[in-house]
Amino acid sequence: MIKKIQDAKIKKQTVVLRLDLNIPYSNGKSSDISRIEKAKETVDHLIKNENRVVILSHFGRPDGKITKDLSLRKLLGYLNETFNLDIKFLPSLEIDLWTKEIKAAPFPSIFLLENVRFSKLEELNDPDFSSKLASLGDVYCNDAFSVSHRAHASTQGITNYIPSFAGFLVQSELKALSLALDKPLKPVTAIVGGSKISTKIELLDNLSNKVEYLIIGGAMANTFLSAQGYGIGISLTEKKMLQTAKKIVQEMKYKKCKLVLPLDIVCSESLNEKKEAKTFRVDCCPIDKMILDIGTQSQKNIKDIINKSKTLIWNGPLGAFETRPFDQGTNNIANHVANRTSKKQLISIAGGGDTVSALNTSSSISKFSYVSTAGGAFLEWLEGKSLPGIESLKL
Ligand code: 3PG
Repeated sequence: MIKKIQDAKIKKQTVVLRLDLNIPYSNGKSSDISRIEKAKETVDHLIKNENRVVILSHFGRPDGKITKDLSLRKLLGYLNETFNLDIKFLPSLEIDLWTKEIKAAPFPSIFLLENVRFSKLEELNDPDFSSKLASLGDVYCNDAFSVSHRAHASTQGITNYIPSFAGFLVQSELKALSLALDKPLKPVTAIVGGSKISTKIELLDNLSNKVEYLIIGGAMANTFLSAQGYGIGISLTEKKMLQTAKKIVQEMKYKKCKLVLPLDIVCSESLNEKKEAKTFRVDCCPIDKMILDIGTQSQKNIKDIINKSKTLIWNGPLGAFETRPFDQGTNNIANHVANRTSKKQLISIAGGGDTVSALNTSSSISKFSYVSTAGGAFLEWLEGKSLPGIESLKL
């Protein structure tokens, strides 16, 4: 059982709040601030109860070095606007300096500490650094599910020093994920796309023990097709993973899970929207072409499976979705999932890496039952691993 922030009845205290402000940001703006928006409920709750809040977060991978481009200062505008507050920025990790200032501040007030990864001690989960971070407040709240797979000072170490609780976003992520894998409505289907089997072996293995249908798409499917003896022309593939793919196919024969691969494929000479795209049967891939999407037969097959399913987990695109028309397979299936979800015929959960941006292009993602804010943490959870930042919030 996880300790919840609302049960702690915290009032007029100083709360160290870990958020994940690691949002996509380039050319002076962010393309997706959902991690900030989804943290609002916890911030509102803490401020309404007249607490002082000290936000901790990382941004990018500065490797323990002060890196101007990775300062959290540039996110202040987004934070102030979303939370409707006036946040005071603490521009360094000189914790002793800030504890005095924080203690002198009125209730409620809110601070943002500079990128915790500017110190190499953060990723080392250094006990002294963890205890320094804890000295910023009386209580710790983790609302950063998406970095909870890291055992770092601000996600795990700190919980050894002050009472620690889960924020509302962490709670809703855990609720959605357990709905998908721990006690799901069956049958459960998982769609796993993307380019590399090598990064998803453990995930495929864990899912194949838990779901009824495992649909493979994206360039990852090419390696599986090749392992089954199909020609794949000049398609992207992981040759060194052929044996692993064969083993996975072999093992699946003895599991209750059905492996679903493309029946037809959309191919072209190269990944270029100006080149002609043609659909072929899966056993007829031309030797001078590459597979870039699934065809309409495959889409129909996947839709039929979705129609039989009560729960769907989605990680990774089904084709080269960044380039038209190879976004069709992903878009059509995403629309179908959104439809079934709207009609309450399906519980749909998406997350991890490229998934959200792939599904965003079809604008159907808002109809999914739950879209995780997590990339790596979502994948580790699908792999069946426990997340250190979450473990340390348990009773
Ligand atoms: C993420 O964006 O997935 C999290 O913020 C974790 O970032 P990391 O992979 O750099 O630890």
